[in-house]
Amino acid sequence: MQNPTDIPSYLTQSDPVRERFERLKQRKVILDVQQLGKRFATAQGEVVALKGIDFKTYRREFVCIIGPSGCGKSTLIRILAGLETQSEGQVLLDGEAVSGPCRDRGMVFQGYTLFPWLNVKRNVMFGLRMNGASYGQAEQSALQWLDLVGLSKFADAYPHQLSGGMKQRVAIARALANQPRILLMDEPFGALDAQTRAKMQSYLLEIWKNIDITIVFITHDLDEAIFLADRILVLKAHPGEVQELIEVPVPRPRSPAQVTSAEFRATKARLEALIHTPSEATDEDIVLPPITRLTDVSDNVE
Ligand SMILES: Nc1ncnc2c1ncn2[C@@H]1O[C@H](COP(=O)(O)OP(=O)(O)OP(=O)(O)O)[C@@H](O)[C@H]1O
Ligand SMILES: [Mg+2]
Repeated sequence: MQNPTDIPSYLTQSDPVRERFERLKQRKVILDVQQLGKRFATAQGEVVALKGIDFKTYRREFVCIIGPSGCGKSTLIRILAGLETQSEGQVLLDGEAVSGPCRDRGMVFQGYTLFPWLNVKRNVMFGLRMNGASYGQAEQSALQWLDLVGLSKFADAYPHQLSGGMKQRVAIARALANQPRILLMDEPFGALDAQTRAKMQSYLLEIWKNIDITIVFITHDLDEAIFLADRILVLKAHPGEVQELIEVPVPRPRSPAQVTSAEFRATKARLEALIHTPSEATDEDIVLPPITRLTDVSDNVE
């Protein structure tokens, strides 16, 4: 049996981190995913993309989803958004079944999805106008959201004039302008360089702190998941099933310096152990074919 003194302090009941999770679970359930399954019919036969996915997220929670490539993360988030229909199970948002896209769910994708022919302000106004807001109301609201993401000065700029990080900030403002209950993000910072990505993570936490929004965020980057999330849903592949839903014991407010903390490193080690389960074949198990040598054998680089 484990000696109680061996248990790290952040896993004991008296710890403030434990209390944070107790409080979190007393909040209202916003998203309730029940026994969700998805099968695709393909020329090669049926692909089971998701099977028996079950989890809940609480109000103002930040949940990250990680898992090997092809395990069904995008399929899952598209079903949550109502852009794809499930084969089994159901998704409840605020107790109501999701049956199509709706303004209560905002979505931000990895690729840049702004309309290139509209300026920044009009990109943010677009959804509001579609939902019946007058020009004046939509404009006022768009400017407020642009202010929140720090882009007021760029309201009249066009997407091609913006950096990748700025484009994603506009995409976040556009998604939030419709005042969704939940923000669904599919590798939104995946195309950004490391420095911009780190800044965007901090921006996103600032935004999340200041508004009533629950975030579900897909990433391949373990550090990003630990830095952002309250809990991390780990999926396994073939078929995509929940492997574990782990609580991130790193205290908030988060800062990049925490990367070296015991809690951060322990969480990362745990995630690495989960996603590198030896029995599962992943894209990383690619066996390299013999490679023809095209340089002088005496000219070794190693
Ligand atoms: N429209 C479709 N038709 C057929 N199969 C599909 C379709 N969309 C996804 N799939 C399959 O479902 C599985 C899950 O795909 P999905 O894109 O959700 O994975 P992912 O975890 O997001 O991958 P990545 O990390 O590479 O983004 C894959 O095997 C994929 O080939
Ligand atoms: Mg994907």
